[in-house]
Amino acid sequence: MANLLVTGGAGFIGSNFVHHVVAHTDHHVTVLDKLTYAGNLASLAGLPEDRLTFVKGDITDAPLVDELFGAADAVVHYAAESHNDNSLHDPRPFLDTNIIGTYTLLEAARRHGTRLHHISTDEVYGDLELDDPDRFTENTPYNPSSPYSSTKAGSDLLVRAWVRSFGVEATISNCSNNYGPYQHVEKFIPRQITNVIRGIRPKLYGKGENVRDWIHADDHSSAVLTILDKGEIGETYLIGADGEKDNKTVVELILSEMGQPADAYDHVTDRAGHDMRYAIDSTKLRTELGWTPQYQDFEAGLSATIDWYRRNEEWWASAKDGVEAFYAAKGQ
Ligand code: NAD
Ligand code: DAU
Repeated sequence: MANLLVTGGAGFIGSNFVHHVVAHTDHHVTVLDKLTYAGNLASLAGLPEDRLTFVKGDITDAPLVDELFGAADAVVHYAAESHNDNSLHDPRPFLDTNIIGTYTLLEAARRHGTRLHHISTDEVYGDLELDDPDRFTENTPYNPSSPYSSTKAGSDLLVRAWVRSFGVEATISNCSNNYGPYQHVEKFIPRQITNVIRGIRPKLYGKGENVRDWIHADDHSSAVLTILDKGEIGETYLIGADGEKDNKTVVELILSEMGQPADAYDHVTDRAGHDMRYAIDSTKLRTELGWTPQYQDFEAGLSATIDWYRRNEEWWASAKDGVEAFYAAKGQ
């Protein structure tokens, strides 16, 4: 048994990871989370008290981080400002949390010799053309587009520098777009599902041709555990499940699964600098570490996710009006 410190464990992917760890290992988990608008303690409800300790705090708080690293066998770092649209509106919190926060963790890892796994995104590689036969690999040059993705790219480069310069025992993973339970209603799939539940028409940015490479959050979690167990220090692993779909197709699937006409959506103002396509080649993770995704059927996973939002309206209802007001002010 190990003591795992999970930053951002009250957010979407972090909370899915905590549920996964409790279900599949005997590790004890300490969550460090600031509970920003994106963090929700209800996402950790029902977990056994003896397996989980929750600490409310900021990853830029060096004394707190130092104390928690002293008690941890390994750290998985999810905490971030994560939403592109917010980063276009107000980039500053992205610099504070994603850059300074990651730096604060790296300094603690250096002092304590703690194993660190850094969670990152495929967006650090920029975007691909729709007809490009290539997908992102670990060797694709960094070329981020948004304030969000540039701060994630910066955080990855800090991790690499702390490994090389100070011998910090870290690994990095860059994952594609996640879907599943506990995702904030600001994000594409939950926004459209909760729109339909509320009788609002789904909103597609621009023509809806942009492609995302969808993976279920539980598959992301199993990949991260695999890297923690078997990953080589200093290495980067791309995580993806061959789930490319354009946004229009995803909206049409949501509408038809929810009993609505497939064309009952609106086109709205496009996102500034909107990345066209992400696509992950996860051969390294699959062949070197033996990982395989379990959710091979996107429509089945989407249907289960729709069901989760239908059954858990109390989890998302309080955030919905504010999110829609934010988008409406931008014509989205
Ligand atoms: P999220 O916004 O749902 O959750 C982020 C969590 O971090 C929240 O609980 C928030 O309270 C916490 N947090 C924010 N600032 C903090 C701070 N200063 N100190 C402590 N806690 C803080 O994000 P998510 O979608 O779950 O993403 C988690 C991680 O995974 C991020 O690093 C993101 O870049 C990465 N990622 C996300 C996706 C995706 O599809 N959502 C894909 C690949 C990688
Ligand atoms: O690729 C990984 C990234 O995936 C993560 O690093 C980010 O943290 C995560 O938020 C996600 O970024 P995206 O910008 O791809 O996700 P988002 O859910 O915001 O949007 C998905 C696509 O849907 C994108 O092309 C924009 C579009 N979109 C989004 C919203 C909110 C719409 O068409 N309509 C919408 O209402």
